[in-house]
Amino acid sequence: MCGIVGYVGKQQASDILVNGLRKLEYRGYDSSGIAVFEQGQIKVIKAKGRMDDLEDKILELGKPKGVCGIGHTRWATHGEPSDINSHPHGSKTLSIVHNGIIENYLELKARLEAHGYVFESETDTEVLAKLLDYFYEGNPFEAIKRVLHRVHGSYALGMIFKDHPDQIFAVRKDSPLIVGLGTDENFIASDIPAILRYTKNYYLLEENEIVTLSDQNVLIQNLDGEMLTKEVFTAKWDLEAAEKGGFPHFMLKEIFEQPEALRKTISPRLKNGLPEFELDLLQQDAVNRYQKIHIVACGTAMHAGMVGKALFEKWTRIPTDVAIASEFRYNDPILSKEDLVIIVSQSGETADTLAALRLAKQRGVPTLAIVNVVGSSIAREADGVLYTWAGPEIAVASTKAYTVQISMFYLLAFHFARMRKLFTDEETAVYCQKMLEIPEKMNEILQHTDECKYYASRFQNSSDLFFIGRGLDYSMSLEGSLKLKEISYIHSEAYAAGELKHGTISLITDRVPVVALMTQPKLYEKTLSNVKEVKTRGACVLLMASSGLPVSEESADYILWIPEADDILMPLLSVIPLQLFAYYTAVLRGCDVDKPRNLAKSVTVE
Ligand code: AGP
Repeated sequence: MCGIVGYVGKQQASDILVNGLRKLEYRGYDSSGIAVFEQGQIKVIKAKGRMDDLEDKILELGKPKGVCGIGHTRWATHGEPSDINSHPHGSKTLSIVHNGIIENYLELKARLEAHGYVFESETDTEVLAKLLDYFYEGNPFEAIKRVLHRVHGSYALGMIFKDHPDQIFAVRKDSPLIVGLGTDENFIASDIPAILRYTKNYYLLEENEIVTLSDQNVLIQNLDGEMLTKEVFTAKWDLEAAEKGGFPHFMLKEIFEQPEALRKTISPRLKNGLPEFELDLLQQDAVNRYQKIHIVACGTAMHAGMVGKALFEKWTRIPTDVAIASEFRYNDPILSKEDLVIIVSQSGETADTLAALRLAKQRGVPTLAIVNVVGSSIAREADGVLYTWAGPEIAVASTKAYTVQISMFYLLAFHFARMRKLFTDEETAVYCQKMLEIPEKMNEILQHTDECKYYASRFQNSSDLFFIGRGLDYSMSLEGSLKLKEISYIHSEAYAAGELKHGTISLITDRVPVVALMTQPKLYEKTLSNVKEVKTRGACVLLMASSGLPVSEESADYILWIPEADDILMPLLSVIPLQLFAYYTAVLRGCDVDKPRNLAKSVTVE
């Protein structure tokens, strides 16, 4: 997810672009840049790092003087953060900023290279710049239209063409873009915060509506060139609310971003309905060589690894271990060169996880990283990296990053099973299709947050709370417990439900809250017995159960039904009520949800 701003009017564009980009840093902040018309030329200044680094560079090189320009703050997806990979990107005829992922950029790049184009960056955006250049014959609208017919993927584009010095062109598909309406000035932006200081009035752009913007006019056309009239919206949010997209906290915003994050992480990795990976580590000969898989991570990422273990062992029968990185690095682990170590980290900078990666590499074991931050230390040092495309995760409590991590494990497990001839292409395609149906089911759950809020209110004053589950539900219980602890400060523990009678059940007395997960048809009756055990000892039970299971309403004090999916895919759904339960409990307790006490978003020290 990146941030785009554009301005054309009477004021100095550079100041407005920088101010706007600063308000979009929550969308991406590993590099940024501006392109401004100055005396008929496009002057581009861009830099790796935060907005302060860009402003330092603008001071050093001199602020471009002009009233029309575009700007971008980047969350890298293709090409690690660097000056060269920063936006804007350019060609002979234009400068462009882009938010999104062009899925067929490599194919387009090869065709442009065959026409003599030379590329300097690793980005898909530079391919767009050269493709526009290739089709440009003096009419920006026509060039844009021809490019849109050839690209697949998501985009929000801001463009300025050298021989149209007082105009900005824009278009979007899947990625957001609005048109800000001022007096003798107009704007484009990825999101309202960028322009709220200058205007509250804006148009919402629909898919493939091409905008031609000047200080006096806003022209919006469909691909057929028909002029469109648009409804003017007026922002009602204050700036802080706007940065959270109207959500009260980044954590809730990121919980709601999960369906889209899942789509963005999965879809580009499916070709003809089957998982496709380019890494050598994941080619058939390598996959057939692996004797054991070690998944190493911390916290929530480690919990994602537990789901990964269950999937690998169920479908590939490759023995799989999950290790806490801070233990792994000091335990002198038993590793073989025929193993695969999978390192999982949202930030890609967690010290213990990075140390575990280095240990595995010292032992000569192939290392694959699943990371959300492009160009991070773990991403750079692993033998291969699979980026999750969840976009920046601002809240300290990890939500969407966790979900896309386990979605990556699903794809890898399907892929390994197919490479090892344990899955046919048809079987693999069926599971991949089922995964593509998950975002819609996630949205069903997200339409009923009030239910989670109500249950949270029932338990908000608890001092101790237990999560129980079996199999995958146990892995989810661990994640649910961590979420609740870290943001509501309620002590909670997760237990394999069958383990209760071996000690913990002594803690169950009258009204002790227990959250029981029940999504696995083969195990639910056993968990139901455990629920009865704790209820007979006075527990107050919230049951989170798959709606497909024959469980009577009397089984628990409260039941939250989860839309049914293939039982193996249920973690992608059951995690959402767990996140919402923790979120609303923390809100009701007046906790600082996005920045819980004592915690940092990335633990870069031991
Ligand atoms: C998640 O809610 C926690 N904030 C924490 O456990 C986190 O998952 C852990 O620190 C690992 O971070 P990483 O994924 O960036 O490596």
